[in-house]
Amino acid sequence: MKVLVVGGGGREHAIIKKLKESNEIEKIYALPGNGGMAGDAECVAIGAKDIPAIVDFAKANDIGFAVVAPDDPLVLGAVDELEKIGIPCFGPEKKAAIIEGSKVFSKNLMKKYGIPTAAYEVFDSAEKALAYLEAAPVPTVIKADGLALGKGVIIAMTRDEAKAAVKTIMEDKAFGESGNQIVIEEFLEGPEVSVLSFTDGKTVVPMISSMDHKRALDNDKGLNTGGMGTVAPNPYYIPEIADRCMKEIFLPTVNAMNAEGRTFKGCLYFGLMITKDGPKVIEYNCRFGDPETQVVLPLLESDLFSIMKSVAAGTLTAEQVKFSKKHACCVVMASEGYPQKYETGFEITMPADKNIYVAGAKLSGGKLLTAGGRVLGVTETADTLADAVSKAYETVKTVSFANAYYRHDIGKKALEV
Ligand code: AMP
Ligand code: GLY
Repeated sequence: MKVLVVGGGGREHAIIKKLKESNEIEKIYALPGNGGMAGDAECVAIGAKDIPAIVDFAKANDIGFAVVAPDDPLVLGAVDELEKIGIPCFGPEKKAAIIEGSKVFSKNLMKKYGIPTAAYEVFDSAEKALAYLEAAPVPTVIKADGLALGKGVIIAMTRDEAKAAVKTIMEDKAFGESGNQIVIEEFLEGPEVSVLSFTDGKTVVPMISSMDHKRALDNDKGLNTGGMGTVAPNPYYIPEIADRCMKEIFLPTVNAMNAEGRTFKGCLYFGLMITKDGPKVIEYNCRFGDPETQVVLPLLESDLFSIMKSVAAGTLTAEQVKFSKKHACCVVMASEGYPQKYETGFEITMPADKNIYVAGAKLSGGKLLTAGGRVLGVTETADTLADAVSKAYETVKTVSFANAYYRHDIGKKALEV
């Protein structure tokens, strides 16, 4: 069968490498993919948000199954359009992708169905938000309603910072229409855990837990990024917490989406905080996380393609999803200066026989050149977390490009638990 994967980052590379293990797949196309994954899939220069072109390509190329990985095309309805022409998909339809596409929707869903999350208020005008902030407790968290390239969340330590955030989002329109409404919510404290799950709308099967490292610099300093590294499993996600999450969060969320007529099929991502009052939802994503996928999928022992087909067909069972008992660590290598200004176009050299997931690179004259902020992620697995971390850093030494930057402490916090 020919399979199409929409997207072009490290997450998509990890999905493609795992799908390649399936005997049933004869060819994988990545739309648009990137030069660093050209050995694993045929990259086609069609943007992930260009839904009419994706549909035309699928029709013309006898595609039997599609995986839509990034948030934008899911929220724009790529799955709905592909299903209309008879192509089964892994990923939620537009009406379910709203769980990530609108924070106002997801917060109201959690309130209506009693799913634990931070207390919040919704505002549709800067004036009302600013008036509310006069007496609101700080720190507080300001969130743009819609997608904002992962930048729509501002943690304000003081009232002045909170007011400035409201102005940035609602008056200066820093995130465009995404900031027409905002959520102002209670600041929660505790360790964070990412749990990706497979769900067909009836059964929800959590994958192995993971821990992201979002800040740019060592010891969680510097700006928020798309993620500088991950480890799995997450040591804070002990069995007692996992049980509570299943009962209090995962099943209630899937049931709530069904009750709203928005059945969710695909990968539902739970961004959780383990507070002193128990686990609470920080955010939902309607897709695999990046770079969580780069540690989760290498530990998946089952066939990813057969799981994805079962999710699409509504026949998922827990027995289909088996994870290894090993640990994984992914160190992201970025261009120095990311997430702000950085230079690209430097030649990348790296070993061919390692789990290296390429995110920001292009092929030019037979050479692989850097082409983005996060360039690639190096993943290693081992029987212990300590070994996975040290193996990953050993492999990092065998990768080079001119302005490479990476954190030196991925996994450090997890090892101290
Ligand atoms: P996001 O951009 O949605 O991934 O959120 C970025 C980060 O903001 C999260 O990973 C949390 O660390 C933090 N965050 C979001 N909401 C809250 C909250 N209510 N309390 C404390 N931290 C938060
Ligand atoms: N790593 C967090 C995300 O994918 O949103």
